Amino acid sequence: MIAGMQNVVKRFGNVQALDHVSFAIHEGEILGLLGPNGAGKTTVIRTLAGLIKADSGEITLLGKKQDVNNIRLKQHLGLVTQEVTVFEELTAEENLRYFGGLYGVKGDKLRQRVKETLEFVGLSEHAKKVPGKFSGGMQRRLNIACALVHSPKFLIMDEPTVGIDPQSRSYILESVKRLTMEGTTLLYTSNYMEEVQAIASRIVIMDQGKVIASGTLDELVSRIQHEETIRITVSNPSVALAERFRAIQGVKTVMHNGADYTIVSGAGSDNLNRVLMVAQQRGSVSNIVADKPTLEDVFLTLTGKKLRDEEAGV
Ligand SMILES: Nc1ncnc2c1ncn2[C@@H]1O[C@H](COP(=O)(O)OP(=O)(O)OP(=O)(O)O)[C@@H](O)[C@H]1O
Ligand SMILES: [Mg+2]
Repeated sequence: MIAGMQNVVKRFGNVQALDHVSFAIHEGEILGLLGPNGAGKTTVIRTLAGLIKADSGEITLLGKKQDVNNIRLKQHLGLVTQEVTVFEELTAEENLRYFGGLYGVKGDKLRQRVKETLEFVGLSEHAKKVPGKFSGGMQRRLNIACALVHSPKFLIMDEPTVGIDPQSRSYILESVKRLTMEGTTLLYTSNYMEEVQAIASRIVIMDQGKVIASGTLDELVSRIQHEETIRITVSNPSVALAERFRAIQGVKTVMHNGADYTIVSGAGSDNLNRVLMVAQQRGSVSNIVADKPTLEDVFLTLTGKKLRDEEAGV
């Protein structure tokens, strides 16, 4: 185990940000930490990285018992913060020289690492520009580069792709995969389940300060394999239709978002035909799929809610 925590508790006033959190990250893997806003992801990262102290519990960082004062441990740790934390008035290159220097990289080695890291995040052509002139995606890439310039063994990324264009997003995801091929271990935090599903070797799902499930994608999905998920798009959506779906025998949850409904039924309910019939009584159906559960379904089944607020329906 390169990093992890055991029964970690952290309170802020009367908010229990971490409620007996336990998980482990093994060398060479990408552990995806998935959870909605306020789940406690950043607090996990801050306590793991030793930026704040846990109230209780045990933390392992880089194979050792974590010690907030052990600077040597931090030399092998890279941290990509949720907010972009680069210097606006320094050029991309100067930012990298600064952060590399902080971690004790010097001379030719520093020059070489600055060059390599800029190449790695695709910013070589912008080395002499200040980040104030960058797009959001480029700023995020520079933010990642600053955490990589000292070649950390263990990299923690806190929602590195929030609010960026799809091109920068896929660039970042590809880079992350390349990093692990070069031997870096990664803790990757996101509330985009598609990202976590695409890159993580194992997944930890958090909600309200608690780990509610963990395992490989297959393991998580097989936990809810007995449930059926039907997605249906109708021409004439209404709240009343959601209620009609809810009334079908065996239906557990119905999510309604615009013209789309997601209907989760219990084991062996075989509700495809019933759902279709109910929908057709109220208008035409433009699409219907009964598909393999995704991480989103795992989350929905475990918590009764969607992962991201903006997707939540009535
Ligand atoms: N410094 C703090 N002081 C008070 N409350 C805090 C502090 N940091 C976090 N919290 C609270 O702890 C809980 C967990 O917050 P945290 O930032 O860890 O969530 P998160 O999963 O990172 O969310 P997001 O996806 O929005 O970044 C929230 O209720 C938050 O309001
Ligand atoms: Mg956060």
